[in-house]
Amino acid sequence: MIPHLEPYKQRCTEELARCGAFPSGWLRLAFSIVPREVFTPDQVWWPEVGDDGLCPVLDLSEDPDAWARAVYDARHPLITQMDGSLTPASGPAAGRFSSSISAPAVVLGMLGHLALDGTHRVLEVGTGSGYNAALLCELVGSDLVDTVEIDGALAARARVALRAIGYHPQVHHDDGAHLPPQAGPYDRIIATASTTHVPYSWVERLDDGGAILVPRHTTTGPDGLLFLRDTRHGTVSGHFVDLVDFMPLRGQEPVTDAVAALRTSTWGEAKTTTIEADLDLSLDIGLGRDRDLGNDREHAGLFAVSMRRPDLRASRNDDGTWWLSSPDVSSWAAARQRADGTYRVKAYGPRDLVADLADAAAWWRGAGRPEVTRFGVTVDRCGETVWLDTPDNPVSAVTTLK
Ligand SMILES: C[S@@+](CC[C@H](N)C(=O)[O-])C[C@H]1O[C@@H](n2cnc3c(N)ncnc32)[C@H](O)[C@@H]1O
Repeated sequence: MIPHLEPYKQRCTEELARCGAFPSGWLRLAFSIVPREVFTPDQVWWPEVGDDGLCPVLDLSEDPDAWARAVYDARHPLITQMDGSLTPASGPAAGRFSSSISAPAVVLGMLGHLALDGTHRVLEVGTGSGYNAALLCELVGSDLVDTVEIDGALAARARVALRAIGYHPQVHHDDGAHLPPQAGPYDRIIATASTTHVPYSWVERLDDGGAILVPRHTTTGPDGLLFLRDTRHGTVSGHFVDLVDFMPLRGQEPVTDAVAALRTSTWGEAKTTTIEADLDLSLDIGLGRDRDLGNDREHAGLFAVSMRRPDLRASRNDDGTWWLSSPDVSSWAAARQRADGTYRVKAYGPRDLVADLADAAAWWRGAGRPEVTRFGVTVDRCGETVWLDTPDNPVSAVTTLK
C-alpha cells in the first residue's frame, strides 16, 4: 500500500528550499503539484552500491517507508532500468544504468537554468519516467511539450503515468539525437542524458532566439551543464552553468569498458618509470549551490583538463593515483606520487598521457585557474569549439567533429 506521502514531500520541499532549488515560486508550485510517486515504479534501485557490490532494491510492497523516503529524497536519483532492461528490478543488481528518475534537486536545478516563460514550446530528450515532462507541462502547458525516449517500454510507461494525472504532452518513441525535419521549431530543448557532442539537428530545430540545455560529457568526471543560445546563422553558443551527472545518450557512450579491457590485457607489457611532473590542479570549484545540493564536487582543474584535452580521459583514485587513457583505446597510464614528489608511472601505448596531463594542468594554472562557469562552447555545422570567457578565445586545438 502506498504510504501517506505528504510528510515525505514536505521534508523534501524544505530541503530543496534550503539549498536554493526554487529560484521562482513558479517552480516551487510545480513541484508541489506534480506527484513524483506516480512516476516511480514499485521496485527501483538505490544508485549506490552496498558492501556486496550491488545496488539494493527498494520495494514498495516490502518496505513502503524506505520506498517513500527514496521517492522524496532530494539528492538521489532512483535507477529504473539497468542494461537496457536486461536486468529486472526484482533484486539487488550491478549493471550499467540505462534509465532513472532524476534527483529532484537536479531536475529543479536544470529547470531553473532553462529560463522558461509560459509561452515557450519545449522538447525534452530523454523522457525516462516522465517526471520532468510532467513538471514541464505544469510550467508551460501540455500542448507546448514534446518529449522523446529511445526505449519503447519506457516511453509507453511514461505516457500512461502522464495521462493518469491529466498531462498530455506528445511522447515520442524515437532516437532524440536525430530529430526529423518536421519536429519543432522549439524555444527550448532540454536533454536529460549527456552528450559527447550536441546533435546538430537540435540546432536546426530551434526557433529564433531559442536555447538548448544539455549535460556535456567530460573526460574527467561530472558532466558540464551547458546553456546554448541561438545566435542565428545556424550557430548556438553559451557558457557552462553547473556540474551534473547523467547517463549518456544512447549511441554516445564513452569507451570506459574498452579501456578497462585494454588495461587488463596489456598490464604485463606496460613499462614502469619514475618521472618528475607537476600535476597540480588544486582549487575547489566555486559552485556553492552544487555543494549544497550534494552533487559530486569536482575540481575546476579537472574540468579544465577535459576542456583543453578532450582526447585525454583522466581520473584520480582516493589514494591519489591518476588513471589516464586515450579515447581511441590505444594507450593508458597509472601515475602514483611518491613521498619525494616524483611519480611512479606504469604506462602502455604510443601516447605520453602523463605529459599531456601535465601540459593541460600547466595551461590551466597559467590561465589563472579559471572555474567551470568561465568555459563555454559554440556549435555550428562544422562541430564544436570550446572557449574560455568569450568565443574568440578557444581553449583546445581539437575541434569535435560531428
Ligand atoms: C536520466 S534518464 C531521464 C530522466 C527523466 N527525464 C525523468 O524525468 O525521469 C535518461 C533517459 O534518456 C533516454 N535516452 C538515452 N538516449 C536517448 C536518445 N538517443 N533519445 C531519446 N532518449 C534517450 C534513456 O533511455 C533514459 O530513459
